[in-house]
Amino acid sequence: MYLTKKEERMMDGEEGYAVKKSMEILVALGNIYGAEKLIRVGSVQVAGVSYHNLGDAGLEFLNELAEDGKVKILTTLNPAGMDLEDWKRLGIDEEFARKQNLVIDAFKKMGIIISCTCTPYLIGNLPIYGEHVAWSESSAVTFVNSVVGAKTNREGGPSALAAAFIGKTPSYGLHLNEHRIPDTHVHITTKLSNLPDWGAFGYCVGKKAENKIPYITGITEASLDELKSFCASVVTYGSKPLFYIEGITPGSEKHNPPEETIIIGDNDLREAYESINDDVSTIDLVCIVCPHCSIKEVAKVAELLKYKTISSQPEFWVACSRLVKQIADKRGYTKIIERAGAKFACDTCMAVAPLKGRFRSVATPSAKGCYYSRHNGMKTKIGSLEKCIEAAVRGRWS
Ligand code: F3S
Repeated sequence: MYLTKKEERMMDGEEGYAVKKSMEILVALGNIYGAEKLIRVGSVQVAGVSYHNLGDAGLEFLNELAEDGKVKILTTLNPAGMDLEDWKRLGIDEEFARKQNLVIDAFKKMGIIISCTCTPYLIGNLPIYGEHVAWSESSAVTFVNSVVGAKTNREGGPSALAAAFIGKTPSYGLHLNEHRIPDTHVHITTKLSNLPDWGAFGYCVGKKAENKIPYITGITEASLDELKSFCASVVTYGSKPLFYIEGITPGSEKHNPPEETIIIGDNDLREAYESINDDVSTIDLVCIVCPHCSIKEVAKVAELLKYKTISSQPEFWVACSRLVKQIADKRGYTKIIERAGAKFACDTCMAVAPLKGRFRSVATPSAKGCYYSRHNGMKTKIGSLEKCIEAAVRGRWS
């Protein structure tokens, strides 16, 4: 891979350890994937923030980089393993909290904004169309590639951090237009009416399109929250963090539907629901939602919880960024939600918090949430906001 004189000097250690290490990571990646050069990126989003996933080895790696590493561009974080302010209320133990705070301290020292959200595009880390960025969180990567039309590969935590220290990333994969061409046509013949439908549709597309970039037809409208949910699901159950929806997402007008066509209808959606749902009626945790809630979603939860009381059995989490919670505080949504017995889970989520063994079952409107909850040993139920809230009030799924 071609390096400028300045990049060569960075590689030789002229700007210190973190920059040298970062150059080594980026050059190794560039060489593996055949990149010709490094390109500038406008922002970075770093995953691998929860101590639950990092462990002591990850913490040590971060502390080494934090010694002399300072990010050069706007950099935000994925959710951590706990609510950074109210972790006790979510049942997190002291030792975990101590270690998680050490992780956060290391990121702070690097100059990273301690945002801890998988929806950075809702809190100010929003690229423009065509901009190159280096993001890690799969749902956010899919969102910026597909809904915003920015360009990023799905970075690992270390390569995203490396991009933040250098301000560049190797030019390969989805940074190149020739790798952003749709190569399968997905036509949907059924109507999507709520968030879980979009999650189930993401399941179908992910499974059927496999490693291809889908060009989707048959959809006439979509909201930001529905697309957010679809992005999370399609990349969780499939692999490509890029899709086009005719007439809805940017760039779709530049392409025609490829010949190979996959039809998705009622039966496919039903099968997706059957596969995501487990046979369980007692719910231990209700989690709204994954990816992190927008303020619109929080407002909807508040509206649905007004004058209701959550039964003592399921714990009820509203997962969102700290910034969205602050808006909810100002708008009075927090009061309504907490008065009903629900808790805010800011900065974290059900997948990255240390929940293994704590809850046996979860209900959520999110297909991705179900996928990761199963990994945490929980039985899963997917349903609309209304259905999840009903389960929380009645104490069971019916
Ligand atoms: Fe976000 Fe956690 Fe879901 S990181 S996308 S809420 S699994």
